[in-house]
Amino acid sequence: MDYKQYIAEKLQIEGVSAEEIASFITATPSQDMGDYALPCFRFAKALRKAPVIIAQELASSFATDDTITEVKAVNGYLNFTVNRAGFTLKTIQTVLNEGEKYGSSTAGEGKTVCIDYSSINIAKPFHIGHLSTTVLGSSLYKIFNFLGYKAVGINHLGDYGTQFGKLIYAYKAWGDKQTVESEGLKELTRLYVKFHEEAESHPEMEDAARAYFKNIEEGDPEALELFNWFKSLTLAETEKIYDLLNVKFDSYAGESFYNDKMQPVIDELKQKNLLTESEGAMVVDLAEYDMPPCIILRSDGASLYATRDLAAAFYRKNTYDFDKCLYVVAYQQNLHFKQIFKVLELLGKPWHKDMIHVAYGMVSLEDGSMSTRKGKVVWLEDVIAKCIEKCSAVINEKNPNLENKEKIARDVGVGAVIFGALSNNKIKDIVFSYDRVLNFDGETGPYVQYTAARCSGVLAKSNIDFSSFTLPEKLESCEYDVIAHLASFPSTVSASAEKLEPSFITRYAIELAKLYNKFYFECKILTAENEETVKFRLALTKAVRITLENALALLGISTPERM
Ligand code: ARG
Repeated sequence: MDYKQYIAEKLQIEGVSAEEIASFITATPSQDMGDYALPCFRFAKALRKAPVIIAQELASSFATDDTITEVKAVNGYLNFTVNRAGFTLKTIQTVLNEGEKYGSSTAGEGKTVCIDYSSINIAKPFHIGHLSTTVLGSSLYKIFNFLGYKAVGINHLGDYGTQFGKLIYAYKAWGDKQTVESEGLKELTRLYVKFHEEAESHPEMEDAARAYFKNIEEGDPEALELFNWFKSLTLAETEKIYDLLNVKFDSYAGESFYNDKMQPVIDELKQKNLLTESEGAMVVDLAEYDMPPCIILRSDGASLYATRDLAAAFYRKNTYDFDKCLYVVAYQQNLHFKQIFKVLELLGKPWHKDMIHVAYGMVSLEDGSMSTRKGKVVWLEDVIAKCIEKCSAVINEKNPNLENKEKIARDVGVGAVIFGALSNNKIKDIVFSYDRVLNFDGETGPYVQYTAARCSGVLAKSNIDFSSFTLPEKLESCEYDVIAHLASFPSTVSASAEKLEPSFITRYAIELAKLYNKFYFECKILTAENEETVKFRLALTKAVRITLENALALLGISTPERM
Protein backbone atom coordinates (compact mmCIF):
# COMPACT_ATOMS: atom_id res chain seq x y z
CA MET A 1 0.00 0.00 0.00
CA ASP A 2 1.63 3.18 -1.16
CA TYR A 3 -0.44 6.26 -0.49
CA LYS A 4 1.20 8.50 -3.04
CA GLN A 5 0.65 5.92 -5.72
CA TYR A 6 -2.86 5.25 -4.53
CA ILE A 7 -3.83 8.93 -4.64
CA ALA A 8 -2.10 9.45 -7.97
CA GLU A 9 -3.94 6.58 -9.58
CA LYS A 10 -7.27 7.77 -8.27
CA LEU A 11 -6.74 11.34 -9.44
CA GLN A 12 -6.32 10.77 -13.18
CA ILE A 13 -5.08 14.05 -14.62
CA GLU A 14 -5.05 14.29 -18.37
CA GLY A 15 -1.61 14.25 -19.89
CA VAL A 16 0.17 13.49 -16.61
CA SER A 17 1.19 9.96 -15.69
CA ALA A 18 0.35 8.49 -12.30
CA GLU A 19 4.09 8.12 -11.60
CA GLU A 20 4.57 11.80 -12.21
CA ILE A 21 1.65 12.81 -10.02
CA ALA A 22 2.96 10.53 -7.28
CA SER A 23 6.36 12.19 -7.51
CA PHE A 24 4.79 15.60 -6.76
CA ILE A 25 2.94 14.41 -3.65
CA THR A 26 4.71 15.06 -0.38
CA ALA A 27 4.01 14.27 3.25
CA THR A 28 2.76 17.36 5.06
CA PRO A 29 4.81 18.90 7.84
CA SER A 30 1.93 18.87 10.32
CA GLN A 31 -1.18 16.80 10.70
CA ASP A 32 -3.68 19.66 10.67
CA MET A 33 -2.80 20.02 6.99
CA GLY A 34 -3.77 16.40 6.41
CA ASP A 35 -1.19 13.72 5.72
CA TYR A 36 -0.26 14.32 2.10
CA ALA A 37 -0.29 17.36 -0.15
CA LEU A 38 -0.24 17.82 -3.88
CA PRO A 39 0.82 21.23 -5.26
CA CYS A 40 -1.50 21.91 -8.21
CA PHE A 41 0.68 24.57 -9.87
CA ARG A 42 2.45 21.54 -11.35
CA PHE A 43 -0.53 21.02 -13.65
CA ALA A 44 -1.28 24.65 -14.50
CA LYS A 45 0.47 24.35 -17.83
CA ALA A 46 -1.00 21.00 -18.89
CA LEU A 47 -4.55 21.95 -17.87
CA ARG A 48 -4.26 25.67 -18.70
CA LYS A 49 -5.97 26.69 -15.50
CA ALA A 50 -5.02 28.48 -12.31
CA PRO A 51 -3.76 26.18 -9.54
CA VAL A 52 -6.54 27.31 -7.18
CA ILE A 53 -9.20 26.28 -9.70
CA ILE A 54 -7.46 22.98 -10.42
CA ALA A 55 -7.31 22.16 -6.71
CA GLN A 56 -11.01 22.96 -6.25
CA GLU A 57 -12.08 20.89 -9.23
CA LEU A 58 -9.94 17.92 -8.28
CA ALA A 59 -11.17 18.09 -4.68
CA SER A 60 -14.81 17.98 -5.70
CA SER A 61 -14.36 15.09 -8.13
CA PHE A 62 -12.22 12.95 -5.80
CA ALA A 63 -14.29 10.25 -4.11
CA THR A 64 -13.08 9.63 -0.58
CA ASP A 65 -13.02 6.05 0.67
CA ASP A 66 -11.72 3.80 3.45
CA THR A 67 -8.18 4.73 2.61
CA ILE A 68 -8.39 8.46 1.94
CA THR A 69 -10.98 9.84 4.28
CA GLU A 70 -10.79 13.53 3.45
CA VAL A 71 -9.68 15.83 0.64
CA LYS A 72 -9.44 19.61 0.89
CA ALA A 73 -8.41 22.29 -1.57
CA VAL A 74 -6.25 24.90 0.20
CA ASN A 75 -4.55 27.71 -1.72
CA GLY A 76 -3.85 25.69 -4.82
CA TYR A 77 -2.88 22.62 -2.86
CA LEU A 78 -4.84 19.42 -2.43
CA ASN A 79 -4.55 18.09 1.11
CA PHE A 80 -5.37 14.46 1.75
CA THR A 81 -6.14 12.84 5.07
CA VAL A 82 -5.66 9.13 5.34
CA ASN A 83 -7.30 6.51 7.49
CA ARG A 84 -4.32 5.99 9.74
CA ALA A 85 -5.59 2.93 11.50
CA GLY A 86 -6.50 1.05 8.33
CA PHE A 87 -3.38 2.28 6.61
CA THR A 88 -1.13 1.21 9.42
CA LEU A 89 -2.43 -2.33 9.53
CA LYS A 90 -2.42 -2.69 5.77
CA THR A 91 1.09 -1.35 5.42
CA ILE A 92 2.67 -3.63 8.00
CA GLN A 93 0.74 -6.62 6.72
CA THR A 94 1.82 -5.94 3.18
CA VAL A 95 5.49 -5.70 4.14
CA LEU A 96 5.36 -8.87 6.23
CA ASN A 97 3.50 -10.80 3.54
CA GLU A 98 5.67 -9.69 0.66
CA GLY A 99 8.96 -10.03 2.53
CA GLU A 100 11.92 -9.78 0.21
CA LYS A 101 9.58 -8.85 -2.63
CA TYR A 102 8.29 -5.75 -0.84
CA GLY A 103 8.86 -2.76 -3.12
CA SER A 104 9.09 -4.83 -6.28
CA SER A 105 6.60 -4.69 -9.12
CA THR A 106 5.80 -6.16 -12.49
CA ALA A 107 5.74 -2.79 -14.22
CA GLY A 108 8.65 -3.71 -16.47
CA GLU A 109 7.44 -7.13 -17.55
CA GLY A 110 8.33 -7.90 -21.15
CA LYS A 111 10.76 -4.98 -21.36
CA THR A 112 14.53 -5.18 -21.62
CA VAL A 113 17.06 -2.63 -20.41
CA CYS A 114 20.69 -2.93 -21.44
CA ILE A 115 23.07 -1.36 -18.93
CA ASP A 116 26.68 -0.71 -19.86
CA TYR A 117 28.66 -0.17 -16.66
CA SER A 118 32.08 -0.53 -15.11
CA SER A 119 33.46 -1.18 -18.62
CA ILE A 120 37.04 -1.39 -17.46
CA ASN A 121 40.14 -1.17 -19.58
CA ILE A 122 42.27 -4.28 -19.84
CA ALA A 123 45.69 -4.04 -18.23
CA LYS A 124 44.84 -0.68 -16.67
CA PRO A 125 44.32 -0.06 -12.99
CA PHE A 126 40.88 -0.65 -11.54
CA HIS A 127 40.93 2.52 -9.53
CA ILE A 128 38.69 4.67 -7.39
CA GLY A 129 37.50 6.44 -10.55
CA HIS A 130 35.69 3.22 -11.54
CA LEU A 131 33.77 3.04 -8.29
CA SER A 132 30.79 5.13 -9.40
CA THR A 133 30.14 3.47 -12.74
CA THR A 134 30.47 0.06 -11.13
CA VAL A 135 28.13 0.55 -8.20
CA LEU A 136 25.70 2.89 -9.97
CA GLY A 137 25.29 0.52 -12.89
CA SER A 138 25.05 -2.50 -10.64
CA SER A 139 22.38 -0.83 -8.53
CA LEU A 140 20.35 0.17 -11.59
CA TYR A 141 20.66 -3.41 -12.77
CA LYS A 142 19.17 -4.67 -9.52
CA ILE A 143 16.49 -1.96 -9.44
CA PHE A 144 15.27 -2.70 -12.97
CA ASN A 145 15.17 -6.42 -12.31
CA PHE A 146 13.22 -5.75 -9.11
CA LEU A 147 10.66 -3.84 -11.16
CA GLY A 148 10.11 -6.75 -13.52
CA TYR A 149 12.35 -5.63 -16.38
CA LYS A 150 14.90 -7.90 -17.88
CA ALA A 151 18.16 -6.09 -17.23
CA VAL A 152 21.22 -7.03 -19.26
CA GLY A 153 24.47 -6.05 -17.56
CA ILE A 154 27.26 -5.35 -20.02
CA ASN A 155 30.93 -4.81 -19.26
CA HIS A 156 32.09 -3.11 -22.46
CA LEU A 157 35.74 -3.96 -21.93
CA GLY A 158 38.37 -1.58 -23.23
CA ASP A 159 40.41 -4.30 -24.87
CA TYR A 160 41.40 -2.64 -28.11
CA GLY A 161 44.03 -0.10 -29.04
CA THR A 162 47.73 0.66 -29.36
CA GLN A 163 48.18 0.59 -25.60
CA PHE A 164 48.31 -3.20 -25.85
CA GLY A 165 51.16 -2.90 -28.32
CA LYS A 166 52.94 -0.67 -25.81
CA LEU A 167 52.40 -3.20 -23.10
CA ILE A 168 53.80 -6.03 -25.17
CA TYR A 169 56.81 -3.90 -25.93
CA ALA A 170 57.30 -3.05 -22.27
CA TYR A 171 56.82 -6.63 -21.14
CA LYS A 172 59.38 -7.92 -23.62
CA ALA A 173 61.85 -5.21 -22.68
CA TRP A 174 61.56 -5.14 -18.89
CA GLY A 175 59.03 -7.70 -17.71
CA ASP A 176 59.12 -11.29 -16.59
CA LYS A 177 56.43 -13.89 -16.31
CA GLN A 178 56.81 -14.55 -12.63
CA THR A 179 56.46 -10.94 -11.51
CA VAL A 180 53.44 -10.40 -13.72
CA GLU A 181 51.84 -13.58 -12.36
CA SER A 182 52.38 -12.56 -8.77
CA GLU A 183 51.85 -8.79 -8.97
CA GLY A 184 49.14 -8.78 -11.65
CA LEU A 185 47.71 -5.41 -12.65
CA LYS A 186 50.13 -3.49 -10.48
CA GLU A 187 53.05 -4.90 -12.45
CA LEU A 188 51.31 -4.32 -15.79
CA THR A 189 50.68 -0.73 -14.77
CA ARG A 190 54.32 -0.32 -13.78
CA LEU A 191 55.40 -1.61 -17.20
CA TYR A 192 52.96 0.67 -18.99
CA VAL A 193 54.13 3.72 -17.07
CA LYS A 194 57.75 2.79 -17.77
CA PHE A 195 56.98 2.61 -21.48
CA HIS A 196 55.75 6.22 -21.41
CA GLU A 197 58.78 7.39 -19.46
CA GLU A 198 61.22 5.70 -21.83
CA ALA A 199 59.34 6.68 -24.98
CA GLU A 200 59.85 10.34 -24.17
CA SER A 201 63.49 10.02 -25.13
CA HIS A 202 63.03 7.12 -27.59
CA PRO A 203 60.11 8.06 -29.83
CA GLU A 204 60.84 5.13 -32.14
CA MET A 205 59.33 2.90 -29.45
CA GLU A 206 55.91 4.20 -30.47
CA ASP A 207 56.30 2.70 -33.93
CA ALA A 208 57.37 -0.61 -32.48
CA ALA A 209 54.31 -0.58 -30.21
CA ARG A 210 52.03 0.13 -33.16
CA ALA A 211 53.54 -2.82 -34.96
CA TYR A 212 52.83 -5.08 -31.98
CA PHE A 213 49.24 -3.93 -31.88
CA LYS A 214 48.92 -4.69 -35.58
CA ASN A 215 50.19 -8.17 -34.77
CA ILE A 216 47.39 -8.64 -32.27
CA GLU A 217 44.82 -7.50 -34.80
CA GLU A 218 46.19 -9.81 -37.45
CA GLY A 219 46.16 -12.75 -35.10
CA ASP A 220 49.89 -13.27 -34.69
CA PRO A 221 50.01 -16.17 -32.19
CA GLU A 222 52.65 -14.73 -29.87
CA ALA A 223 51.09 -11.27 -29.67
CA LEU A 224 47.65 -12.74 -29.23
CA GLU A 225 48.79 -15.06 -26.50
CA LEU A 226 50.32 -12.21 -24.53
CA PHE A 227 47.25 -10.06 -25.05
CA ASN A 228 44.90 -12.81 -23.89
CA TRP A 229 47.09 -13.41 -20.89
CA PHE A 230 46.91 -9.72 -19.92
CA LYS A 231 43.19 -9.89 -20.40
CA SER A 232 42.63 -12.92 -18.21
CA LEU A 233 44.89 -11.48 -15.51
CA THR A 234 42.87 -8.28 -15.49
CA LEU A 235 39.54 -10.09 -15.38
CA ALA A 236 40.62 -12.45 -12.61
CA GLU A 237 41.69 -9.51 -10.50
CA THR A 238 38.63 -7.37 -11.13
CA GLU A 239 36.37 -10.36 -10.57
CA LYS A 240 37.49 -10.43 -6.95
CA ILE A 241 36.37 -6.85 -6.54
CA TYR A 242 33.09 -7.50 -8.35
CA ASP A 243 32.45 -10.38 -5.96
CA LEU A 244 33.07 -8.15 -2.97
CA LEU A 245 30.79 -5.46 -4.34
CA ASN A 246 28.07 -7.95 -5.38
CA VAL A 247 28.38 -6.87 -8.99
CA LYS A 248 27.43 -9.13 -11.89
CA PHE A 249 27.39 -8.97 -15.67
CA ASP A 250 25.60 -10.92 -18.34
CA SER A 251 28.08 -9.99 -21.03
CA TYR A 252 31.74 -9.07 -21.28
CA ALA A 253 31.59 -8.22 -24.96
CA GLY A 254 34.26 -5.54 -25.15
CA GLU A 255 35.57 -3.32 -27.88
CA SER A 256 37.54 -6.04 -29.67
CA PHE A 257 34.35 -8.10 -29.92
CA TYR A 258 33.18 -5.58 -32.52
CA ASN A 259 36.25 -5.97 -34.76
CA ASP A 260 34.24 -7.83 -37.38
CA LYS A 261 30.99 -5.96 -36.75
CA MET A 262 31.97 -2.44 -37.77
CA GLN A 263 31.95 -2.87 -41.55
CA PRO A 264 28.14 -3.10 -41.89
CA VAL A 265 27.82 0.14 -39.91
CA ILE A 266 30.39 1.86 -42.11
CA ASP A 267 28.59 0.57 -45.20
CA GLU A 268 25.27 1.88 -43.98
CA LEU A 269 26.80 5.28 -43.20
CA LYS A 270 28.20 5.40 -46.72
CA GLN A 271 25.00 4.25 -48.30
CA LYS A 272 23.05 6.95 -46.49
CA ASN A 273 25.60 9.56 -47.60
CA LEU A 274 26.61 10.42 -44.08
CA LEU A 275 30.36 9.89 -44.46
CA THR A 276 32.55 12.72 -45.63
CA GLU A 277 36.30 12.93 -45.96
CA SER A 278 38.21 15.28 -43.76
CA GLU A 279 42.01 15.41 -43.84
CA GLY A 280 42.05 11.82 -45.00
CA ALA A 281 39.75 10.59 -42.26
CA MET A 282 36.16 9.50 -42.74
CA VAL A 283 33.77 11.42 -40.51
CA VAL A 284 30.12 12.20 -39.95
CA ASP A 285 29.83 15.96 -40.10
CA LEU A 286 27.81 17.24 -37.15
CA ALA A 287 28.46 20.98 -37.55
CA GLU A 288 24.76 21.56 -38.09
CA TYR A 289 24.19 20.26 -34.56
CA ASP A 290 26.99 22.31 -33.02
CA MET A 291 29.23 19.34 -32.51
CA PRO A 292 32.64 18.42 -33.84
CA PRO A 293 32.61 15.65 -36.46
CA CYS A 294 32.27 12.07 -35.28
CA ILE A 295 35.36 10.31 -36.62
CA ILE A 296 34.60 6.85 -37.98
CA LEU A 297 37.88 5.89 -39.65
CA ARG A 298 41.28 7.47 -39.14
CA SER A 299 43.39 8.42 -42.13
CA ASP A 300 45.31 5.14 -41.78
CA GLY A 301 42.00 3.26 -41.99
CA ALA A 302 41.87 2.34 -38.28
CA SER A 303 38.54 2.38 -36.46
CA LEU A 304 37.90 4.43 -33.33
CA TYR A 305 36.17 4.21 -29.98
CA ALA A 306 33.08 5.77 -31.59
CA THR A 307 33.06 3.27 -34.45
CA ARG A 308 33.02 0.42 -32.00
CA ASP A 309 30.30 2.05 -29.94
CA LEU A 310 28.12 2.38 -33.04
CA ALA A 311 28.67 -1.29 -33.84
CA ALA A 312 27.89 -2.16 -30.22
CA ALA A 313 24.64 -0.19 -30.33
CA PHE A 314 23.53 -2.07 -33.48
CA TYR A 315 24.54 -5.36 -31.91
CA ARG A 316 22.65 -4.68 -28.69
CA LYS A 317 19.51 -3.66 -30.52
CA ASN A 318 19.65 -6.81 -32.67
CA THR A 319 20.56 -9.15 -29.85
CA TYR A 320 18.45 -7.89 -26.98
CA ASP A 321 15.80 -5.75 -28.67
CA PHE A 322 16.11 -3.35 -25.73
CA ASP A 323 13.51 -0.81 -24.69
CA LYS A 324 16.28 1.27 -23.19
CA CYS A 325 20.03 1.16 -23.47
CA LEU A 326 21.91 2.89 -20.65
CA TYR A 327 25.55 3.94 -20.61
CA VAL A 328 26.80 4.57 -17.09
CA VAL A 329 29.85 6.62 -17.99
CA ALA A 330 31.46 9.75 -16.49
CA TYR A 331 30.32 13.15 -17.71
CA GLN A 332 33.69 13.64 -19.42
CA GLN A 333 32.19 11.55 -22.22
CA ASN A 334 29.07 13.69 -22.69
CA LEU A 335 30.12 14.77 -26.14
CA HIS A 336 31.02 11.26 -27.26
CA PHE A 337 27.54 9.95 -26.43
CA LYS A 338 25.77 12.97 -27.90
CA GLN A 339 27.64 12.29 -31.13
CA ILE A 340 26.86 8.57 -31.12
CA PHE A 341 23.17 9.14 -30.46
CA LYS A 342 23.01 11.82 -33.15
CA VAL A 343 24.65 9.54 -35.71
CA LEU A 344 22.09 6.84 -34.91
CA GLU A 345 19.34 9.39 -35.42
CA LEU A 346 20.81 10.46 -38.76
CA LEU A 347 20.94 6.80 -39.73
CA GLY A 348 17.19 6.79 -39.21
CA LYS A 349 17.14 4.45 -36.23
CA PRO A 350 14.01 5.32 -34.28
CA TRP A 351 15.53 3.69 -31.21
CA HIS A 352 18.10 6.45 -30.93
CA LYS A 353 15.72 7.99 -28.40
CA ASP A 354 16.01 4.94 -26.18
CA MET A 355 19.73 5.49 -25.72
CA ILE A 356 20.60 7.21 -22.45
CA HIS A 357 23.93 8.41 -21.20
CA VAL A 358 23.76 8.10 -17.42
CA ALA A 359 26.46 10.62 -16.61
CA TYR A 360 27.99 10.89 -13.16
CA GLY A 361 30.54 13.03 -11.34
CA MET A 362 34.14 12.43 -10.38
CA VAL A 363 35.44 10.73 -7.26
CA SER A 364 38.60 11.96 -5.65
CA LEU A 365 40.24 11.32 -2.32
CA GLU A 366 40.52 13.93 0.39
CA ASP A 367 44.27 14.24 0.00
CA GLY A 368 43.95 15.63 -3.50
CA SER A 369 42.84 14.18 -6.77
CA MET A 370 44.47 11.27 -8.50
CA SER A 371 46.59 11.02 -11.56
CA THR A 372 46.57 7.84 -13.60
CA ARG A 373 49.25 8.67 -16.11
CA LYS A 374 52.14 8.94 -13.71
CA GLY A 375 51.25 5.74 -11.88
CA LYS A 376 50.00 7.57 -8.81
CA VAL A 377 46.87 5.49 -8.67
CA VAL A 378 44.34 4.97 -5.91
CA TRP A 379 43.41 1.32 -6.35
CA LEU A 380 39.81 0.50 -5.60
CA GLU A 381 40.94 -2.76 -4.05
CA ASP A 382 43.07 -0.84 -1.53
CA VAL A 383 40.24 1.53 -0.65
CA ILE A 384 37.86 -1.36 0.03
CA ALA A 385 40.50 -3.26 2.01
CA LYS A 386 41.17 -0.21 4.16
CA CYS A 387 37.46 0.21 4.93
CA ILE A 388 37.18 -3.45 5.90
CA GLU A 389 40.23 -3.13 8.12
CA LYS A 390 38.83 -0.07 9.85
CA CYS A 391 35.54 -1.90 10.48
CA SER A 392 37.43 -4.82 11.92
CA ALA A 393 39.17 -2.48 14.33
CA VAL A 394 35.85 -0.98 15.47
CA ILE A 395 34.33 -4.43 16.00
CA ASN A 396 37.37 -5.66 17.90
CA GLU A 397 37.12 -2.68 20.17
CA LYS A 398 33.37 -2.56 20.73
CA ASN A 399 32.20 -6.12 20.30
CA PRO A 400 35.21 -8.45 20.38
CA ASN A 401 33.16 -11.60 20.96
CA LEU A 402 30.95 -11.11 17.94
CA GLU A 403 30.48 -14.33 15.99
CA ASN A 404 31.52 -14.27 12.36
CA LYS A 405 33.54 -11.10 12.86
CA GLU A 406 35.41 -11.25 9.55
CA LYS A 407 32.34 -11.59 7.42
CA ILE A 408 30.58 -8.79 9.24
CA ALA A 409 33.60 -6.49 8.92
CA ARG A 410 33.64 -7.23 5.21
CA ASP A 411 29.92 -6.58 4.73
CA VAL A 412 30.10 -3.34 6.67
CA GLY A 413 33.32 -2.11 5.06
CA VAL A 414 31.98 -2.84 1.59
CA GLY A 415 28.61 -1.38 2.53
CA ALA A 416 30.33 1.84 3.60
CA VAL A 417 32.09 2.19 0.26
CA ILE A 418 29.02 1.48 -1.88
CA PHE A 419 26.67 3.57 0.23
CA GLY A 420 29.15 6.44 0.22
CA ALA A 421 29.38 6.35 -3.56
CA LEU A 422 25.59 6.33 -3.96
CA SER A 423 24.70 8.91 -1.33
CA ASN A 424 24.43 11.96 -3.55
CA ASN A 425 22.84 12.74 -6.86
CA LYS A 426 25.00 10.92 -9.36
CA ILE A 427 26.09 14.00 -11.26
CA LYS A 428 27.81 15.54 -8.21
CA ASP A 429 31.54 15.20 -7.79
CA ILE A 430 32.45 13.25 -4.67
CA VAL A 431 35.35 13.66 -2.31
CA PHE A 432 35.79 10.25 -0.74
CA SER A 433 36.55 10.32 2.97
CA TYR A 434 37.10 7.19 5.04
CA ASP A 435 35.91 8.88 8.21
CA ARG A 436 32.73 10.08 6.57
CA VAL A 437 31.64 6.81 4.94
CA LEU A 438 32.52 4.80 8.04
CA ASN A 439 30.84 7.03 10.61
CA PHE A 440 28.40 4.74 12.41
CA ASP A 441 26.35 7.73 13.52
CA GLY A 442 26.38 9.54 10.19
CA GLU A 443 24.27 9.16 7.07
CA THR A 444 26.15 6.06 6.08
CA GLY A 445 25.85 2.43 5.13
CA PRO A 446 27.11 1.27 8.54
CA TYR A 447 24.44 3.39 10.23
CA VAL A 448 21.68 1.74 8.19
CA GLN A 449 23.17 -1.72 8.70
CA TYR A 450 23.48 -1.05 12.41
CA THR A 451 19.82 -0.07 12.59
CA ALA A 452 18.78 -3.22 10.73
CA ALA A 453 20.88 -5.29 13.14
CA ARG A 454 19.19 -3.45 16.00
CA CYS A 455 15.81 -4.61 14.61
CA SER A 456 17.08 -8.18 14.44
CA GLY A 457 18.37 -7.89 17.99
CA VAL A 458 14.95 -6.79 19.26
CA LEU A 459 13.22 -9.62 17.39
CA ALA A 460 15.71 -12.19 18.66
CA LYS A 461 15.09 -11.19 22.26
CA SER A 462 11.39 -11.98 22.17
CA ASN A 463 9.64 -15.27 21.63
CA ILE A 464 6.17 -13.83 21.26
CA ASP A 465 4.20 -14.78 18.19
CA PHE A 466 3.12 -11.48 16.64
CA SER A 467 1.67 -12.86 13.41
CA SER A 468 -1.81 -11.80 14.46
CA PHE A 469 -1.01 -8.30 15.64
CA THR A 470 -3.66 -5.62 16.01
CA LEU A 471 -3.66 -1.88 16.27
CA PRO A 472 -2.88 -0.52 19.75
CA GLU A 473 -5.39 1.85 21.31
CA LYS A 474 -3.24 4.85 20.65
CA LEU A 475 -0.85 5.14 17.74
CA GLU A 476 2.16 7.32 18.68
CA SER A 477 3.20 9.82 16.07
CA CYS A 478 6.74 8.44 15.98
CA GLU A 479 5.17 5.07 15.11
CA TYR A 480 3.02 6.52 12.42
CA ASP A 481 6.00 8.32 10.87
CA VAL A 482 7.75 4.97 10.46
CA ILE A 483 4.63 3.47 8.87
CA ALA A 484 4.17 6.33 6.43
CA HIS A 485 7.77 6.02 5.35
CA LEU A 486 7.56 2.25 5.04
CA ALA A 487 4.60 2.70 2.74
CA SER A 488 6.48 4.94 0.37
CA PHE A 489 9.17 2.37 -0.42
CA PRO A 490 7.54 1.06 -3.63
CA SER A 491 7.14 4.54 -5.11
CA THR A 492 10.71 5.38 -4.10
CA VAL A 493 12.00 2.37 -6.01
CA SER A 494 9.96 3.28 -9.10
CA ALA A 495 11.13 6.88 -8.94
CA SER A 496 14.75 5.81 -8.61
CA ALA A 497 14.38 3.76 -11.81
CA GLU A 498 12.61 6.56 -13.62
CA LYS A 499 15.23 9.15 -12.69
CA LEU A 500 18.08 6.61 -12.79
CA GLU A 501 19.02 7.65 -9.26
CA PRO A 502 19.99 4.95 -6.77
CA SER A 503 20.58 7.87 -4.38
CA PHE A 504 16.81 7.97 -3.85
CA ILE A 505 17.21 4.60 -2.20
CA THR A 506 20.20 5.52 -0.05
CA ARG A 507 18.31 8.57 1.19
CA TYR A 508 15.20 6.53 1.75
CA ALA A 509 17.16 4.03 3.85
CA ILE A 510 18.77 6.77 5.95
CA GLU A 511 15.40 8.32 6.65
CA LEU A 512 13.81 4.99 7.57
CA ALA A 513 16.71 4.20 9.89
CA LYS A 514 16.43 7.61 11.56
CA LEU A 515 12.67 7.28 12.04
CA TYR A 516 13.02 3.79 13.45
CA ASN A 517 15.72 4.89 15.87
CA LYS A 518 13.54 7.77 17.04
CA PHE A 519 10.73 5.28 17.67
CA TYR A 520 13.17 2.90 19.38
CA PHE A 521 14.30 5.56 21.84
CA GLU A 522 10.84 7.01 22.46
CA CYS A 523 8.76 3.83 22.76
CA LYS A 524 9.30 0.69 24.75
CA ILE A 525 9.00 -2.38 22.60
CA LEU A 526 9.42 -5.55 24.64
CA THR A 527 8.30 -3.91 27.86
CA ALA A 528 5.40 -1.90 26.44
CA GLU A 529 2.29 -1.43 28.59
CA ASN A 530 0.29 -4.37 27.22
CA GLU A 531 0.73 -7.40 25.04
CA GLU A 532 -1.22 -5.90 22.16
CA THR A 533 1.28 -3.06 21.95
CA VAL A 534 4.28 -5.39 22.27
CA LYS A 535 3.03 -7.45 19.34
CA PHE A 536 2.31 -4.39 17.26
CA ARG A 537 5.76 -2.93 17.86
CA LEU A 538 7.45 -6.23 17.09
CA ALA A 539 5.54 -6.42 13.81
CA LEU A 540 6.59 -2.87 13.04
CA THR A 541 10.21 -3.74 13.86
CA LYS A 542 10.10 -6.74 11.57
CA ALA A 543 8.65 -4.64 8.74
CA VAL A 544 11.46 -2.12 9.13
CA ARG A 545 14.09 -4.85 9.10
CA ILE A 546 12.63 -6.29 5.87
CA THR A 547 12.43 -2.94 4.16
CA LEU A 548 15.95 -1.87 5.14
CA GLU A 549 17.26 -5.18 3.89
CA ASN A 550 15.42 -4.80 0.57
CA ALA A 551 16.68 -1.26 0.15
CA LEU A 552 20.28 -2.23 0.88
CA ALA A 553 20.04 -5.24 -1.44
CA LEU A 554 19.12 -2.91 -4.32
CA LEU A 555 22.40 -1.11 -3.67
CA GLY A 556 24.37 -4.36 -3.54
CA ILE A 557 24.86 -4.19 0.23
CA SER A 558 24.35 -7.10 2.63
CA THR A 559 22.49 -6.65 5.89
CA PRO A 560 24.09 -8.41 8.88
CA GLU A 561 21.92 -9.88 11.62
CA ARG A 562 24.32 -8.60 14.25
CA MET A 563 27.03 -6.02 14.41
N1 ARG B 1 36.34 1.87 -21.19
C1 ARG B 1 35.80 3.20 -21.28
C2 ARG B 1 36.58 4.13 -20.38
O1 ARG B 1 37.21 3.69 -19.44
C3 ARG B 1 34.35 3.28 -20.89
C4 ARG B 1 33.44 2.56 -21.83
C5 ARG B 1 32.02 2.94 -21.62
N2 ARG B 1 31.11 2.26 -22.49
C6 ARG B 1 30.97 2.49 -23.78
N3 ARG B 1 30.12 1.77 -24.44
N4 ARG B 1 31.62 3.46 -24.38
O2 ARG B 1 36.56 5.33 -20.61
